[in-house]
Amino acid sequence: MKVLIVYYSTYGNTFKMAKFVEEGVRLVKGVEPVLRKVPELIPDSVINSKPEMKVGSEMQKDVPIVTFDDFREASGYAFGTPTRFGNVSSQLKNIIDQLGQLWFERIFEGKPAGIFVSTSTLHGGQEATILSLVSVLLHLGCVIVGVPYSVDDLYVTKGGGSPYGPSHLAGVDNKRDIDENEANICRNFGKRLAELVIKLNK
Ligand SMILES: Cc1cc2nc3c(=O)[nH]c(=O)nc-3n(C[C@H](O)[C@H](O)[C@H](O)COP(=O)(O)O)c2cc1C
Repeated sequence: MKVLIVYYSTYGNTFKMAKFVEEGVRLVKGVEPVLRKVPELIPDSVINSKPEMKVGSEMQKDVPIVTFDDFREASGYAFGTPTRFGNVSSQLKNIIDQLGQLWFERIFEGKPAGIFVSTSTLHGGQEATILSLVSVLLHLGCVIVGVPYSVDDLYVTKGGGSPYGPSHLAGVDNKRDIDENEANICRNFGKRLAELVIKLNK
């Protein structure tokens, strides 16, 4: 069984979170992570003129672009996005808005799914962004997955991480590394998704 980790990332932070979620999925026997990015909407000319964007794009160059069959074949989902004004990025929303046929086929119903997010500022909308996508997951019929407080890192994190889902404080220059608490929360989230895939498919 597979957990699809589908994300968008301009500068690489959400991508790095996705890799930690992937590690967490791998901890569960019988479940395989499938890491996929969504198509970029920013023109190449803009990306190539901004060194930080270019670095972000380069580091993800080997990640395949998600296909509808990736969604069909998965038994669970992790959606990752950077915050845009406290909301989802247009790049991830662009793919979500193409899920009508799969919604019609009922492929998401009863499958566990959750959201992870990166922001520049600590109170810049991590939870709001996650909640904006919860409504999408409910429409699709997914079982919503967050991060319970049995994950100790939630008590002590000085950066991101909340019961709504993993989050990362990237800093105004987008260069703050994912710290150990944030990474553990991402791993736990991936593991929990994979464990729920097993439980829900018994
Ligand atoms: C148009 C735009 C809107 C943004 N809005 C917010 C915001 O509301 N709150 C915030 O903390 N960061 C905001 N950011 C910063 C991004 O969330 C940040 O660059 C991102 O988390 C980095 O993730 P990435 O490296 O995966 O692209 C915004 C960035 C852009 C370009």
